[in-house]
Amino acid sequence: MLKIAPSLLAADFANLQQEIDQVRQADYLHMDVMDGKFVPNISFGPPVIEAAAAVSPIPLDVHLMVWEPVRLLDAFFKAGSGKIDYITVHAEACTHLHRTLQNIRDLGVKAGIALNPATSIESIKYVLHLADQILIMTVNPGFGGQQFLDEMVPKIKAAKELIDCRGANCEIAVDGGIDLETAKQVVDAGAEFLVAGSAVFKAETPHKMIRALREV
Ligand code: DX5
Ligand code: ZN
Repeated sequence: MLKIAPSLLAADFANLQQEIDQVRQADYLHMDVMDGKFVPNISFGPPVIEAAAAVSPIPLDVHLMVWEPVRLLDAFFKAGSGKIDYITVHAEACTHLHRTLQNIRDLGVKAGIALNPATSIESIKYVLHLADQILIMTVNPGFGGQQFLDEMVPKIKAAKELIDCRGANCEIAVDGGIDLETAKQVVDAGAEFLVAGSAVFKAETPHKMIRALREV
């Protein structure tokens, strides 16, 4: 079944507890960590992860848009107090992606590899067996509310082919500009996990939008 992960970046930060409660029917709460270096924006770090973990009824999916995230894995893992299911790092941000993925799994957490729009799927074929998820960015990371990049649809198909061909046990997730229309396109192409920020948190009734996304 299609998994839905609302991105907290689009929530009202002055009311995190209520906002998180509004999306309790989702599968995961997606947390976008930005360092102002790998991406041109700063969002939040371990203290907010800790606060969200304390009140979230659903597990956390932590998307690290930071340089050399291997330095920070322990800090984020601790902040999550057992509530983190996924930690995703960018292939472009890791000098030693292979080791970084191993370190995430050593924490007992699922490991995700995020790819910027310009990064090809082939670049990660030798580490696919260490990943539980590939997160295909359908916008340039750094901001919520951006326009979906249509040219990423063939990339999702290429990811599916590569995963099938290598017999990898790895799911395909998509992040950026997901709404009811683009969700249908990415699901048809092979996506199994949708991250959606604005579409969910700016909807009048977030739980209805979650259900609608699940059924595209
Ligand atoms: C972008 C983030 C996304 C973002 C998605 O850098 O990784 O998770 O919050 O937001 P929407 O769904 O509004 O494009
Ligand atoms: Zn994200």
